Amino acid sequence: MKLLAIETSCDETAVSILECTGDEQSASFKVLGNALLSQIDIHKEYGGVFPAVAKREHAKNLVPLLASSLEEAELLSEGDVPLSEEARAALMSTLEREPGLSEAFLSFITTTQKPAIDAIAVTAGPGLEPALWVGINFAKALASAWDLPLVPVNHMEGHFLAALARKENEEIVIKGITLPVLGLLISGGHTELVLMRDWLSYELLGSTRDDAVGEAFDKVARMLDLPYPGGPEVSKLAERDREDARTNPFVLPRPMLDSGDLDFSFSGLKTAVLYMVKDKTLSELEKEQLARAFEDAAADVLWKKTSKALDESGAETLVLGGGVSANIHIRREFTNSIKDEHPQVSLRIPEGELTTDNAVMIGIAGYYRALKKEFATDFVANGNQSLAS
Ligand code: KG4
Ligand code: ZN
Repeated sequence: MKLLAIETSCDETAVSILECTGDEQSASFKVLGNALLSQIDIHKEYGGVFPAVAKREHAKNLVPLLASSLEEAELLSEGDVPLSEEARAALMSTLEREPGLSEAFLSFITTTQKPAIDAIAVTAGPGLEPALWVGINFAKALASAWDLPLVPVNHMEGHFLAALARKENEEIVIKGITLPVLGLLISGGHTELVLMRDWLSYELLGSTRDDAVGEAFDKVARMLDLPYPGGPEVSKLAERDREDARTNPFVLPRPMLDSGDLDFSFSGLKTAVLYMVKDKTLSELEKEQLARAFEDAAADVLWKKTSKALDESGAETLVLGGGVSANIHIRREFTNSIKDEHPQVSLRIPEGELTTDNAVMIGIAGYYRALKKEFATDFVANGNQSLAS
């Protein structure tokens, strides 16, 4: 099955085309086209993501990214495609909510022949609702123009399943996975321990009671005068301090470590950092040390809770998913600790580009949902959509 996948939940606009084969136990994905535009440089000026700005940028970029993804997949074929009055009216009822998109869309759809694609997958949530809506309306309009089935995808399921995937030759494969799978999903909006006992059936074991860990990274970065997005910047500073292996004068708390459950809290940790920078001008060295102390505390809590969840659930596979799983220190800590403490558990960490937001992961999750025939035409953006309850 050839699947077109669209992601616009936050500050990345992405359109991918995947050739998908196999079943849940053994699936293969060939990336035929992959076009992604990050809005980071635009949001940097504001120090964070503004939903209205994100929406405007997605609307501007979706049609060019679709064209470039189709071209890479050798599926772009120009031609005169007249629209009946009826078809145009149907499209406009979807596109009238997206004034930034409609003109480019109509021009594209009337000059491009229907490509050999079998279905369209699009992120329906969670994320920023105005941003999600552009992608959804774009996908709905495409599905209507090309008469294709549409699959709504949960963004966190995308992170989860992409983390299970491995590169094998030129393909991305998900195979040889032993259930149950425990997932630690860590991003700008989420910090969750989720158990997948059966394929695509999730149970929430624990989550943050306040800030997500990525949000804490971003806020600490701001306190240290680092640009948005803060996670990679905090990581760079902390790594510098690690290279020198100095003792660290900053000691930070490990919130909720003894709470007895699998929930997290990162707002206290963030506030502890705030007290350490308040009314002070930190030297470069002190900033590195504080970044390292914060990263150590965050990684420590994440690991200890995950380790407890492994003990309690008997999971045989652990996946890390979401933007924060790009963090070098967290990857290293998990890789080492799992060998020492849970040698029977197989750890899966998403490969390079699949770590942060992208449309390939939406295509992967979309294929799994398409296998279950979970097509829909009339769905809405859901900013708080959960994967498990
Ligand atoms: O999954 P993602 O790309 O978008 C959301 O769905 O939120 O995650 C973005 C988050 C941001 O908070 C960003 O600072 C964080 O992931 N992040 C990192 C790193 N790379 C991205 N945090 C720590 N270390 C990193 N290397
Ligand atoms: Zn994400």
